[in-house]
Amino acid sequence: MTLKLPGLIDAHVHMRDPGAEYKEDWTSGTAAALTGGFTVVLAMPNTQPPITNDKNLSLALEAGRHKARCDFAQFLGAGPDNAAVIPALSQKAAGMKMYLDQTYGPLRLDDMTLWRDHLSQWPVDAPIAVHAEGRSMAAIILAATFFGRSVHLCHVSTREEILLIKAAKEKGLNVTCEVAPHHLFLSDEDIKHLGVGKSEVRPRLATRADCEALWDNIQVVDCFATDHAPHTLAEKDGLNPPPGFPGLETAFSLLYTAVSQERISVDDLVSRMYTNPRRIFNLPEQQQTWIEIDQKARYEIGSSNFYTRCDWSPFSGWKVVGRITRVVLRGNEAYRDGQVLAPPGYGVNIRY
Ligand code: DOR
Ligand code: ZN
Ligand code: ZN
Repeated sequence: MTLKLPGLIDAHVHMRDPGAEYKEDWTSGTAAALTGGFTVVLAMPNTQPPITNDKNLSLALEAGRHKARCDFAQFLGAGPDNAAVIPALSQKAAGMKMYLDQTYGPLRLDDMTLWRDHLSQWPVDAPIAVHAEGRSMAAIILAATFFGRSVHLCHVSTREEILLIKAAKEKGLNVTCEVAPHHLFLSDEDIKHLGVGKSEVRPRLATRADCEALWDNIQVVDCFATDHAPHTLAEKDGLNPPPGFPGLETAFSLLYTAVSQERISVDDLVSRMYTNPRRIFNLPEQQQTWIEIDQKARYEIGSSNFYTRCDWSPFSGWKVVGRITRVVLRGNEAYRDGQVLAPPGYGVNIRY
């Protein structure tokens, strides 16, 4: 039985290009995206160099233009000294990303007066996505409210965060949020079998009770986004393991398995992987674009032979239901039965 759905949107992907192409680049990352049913990816700015100015934005967009196989846009990063200059670039970017807590890379805004500078100057109709955990999340919701603007809260992972967002929405505040599959399906109980280095991720894997609270409040969740954050196995197993999991190739099947178990509906999936991200990030419609799913296919997630250059998964060995068999992107077959067909350069920058 074939199910046909719109091309999926992943609003949170780390492409590592420019600067760490040995982990991933636009070519390998968008091959992974198409394999996972994503026809648009929004790339995060914590690259080397970070995407905090016109010059570095051009570096990322040029790389994407030549190498991307699916459509894309690039976030700008909020830094300590660019609040006044990046608003002029807002139309060329997916949005602005603010890092309020420690994670991978140097982009971090500690000083709340910097939050004020960015929140007040970035155009109100352009998206802002934030990495804010726990109390930082409460603080940024308050700060955004002061400036009468929306914020999108990335990778919600705990009970207290999802309940905070629920309360904010009930008050009518302009907040949206995403959850990553790894925070729905993995908890700190999985650290033992994954190993300490491999299980490093920000936000950290939370408790079983936190996972349950995310499922119990799934109606508060606007988007599923992978936070695809590739690092090599050597790095993950090394002395100073960087945080992050690859996720593009496993997200859909994991979530479709939840559909098969009647934890969520197909409509819940489509709203969170297409309709809502499209609205929140003002994305154009992709003409003649869809994905086909073999709803009955059952398979086990492997441990290698992924398209992502980092070539591992925290979900190896998981048994899932629902396999993407075909992706048609702007009228052309971009993926079929394990083969990525769209060449590098086929993808377009949707903010062009
Ligand atoms: O685990 C993470 N990895 N969390 C982040 O916020 C950043 C990401 C990365 O870029 O590796
Ligand atoms: Zn983050
Ligand atoms: Zn991220």
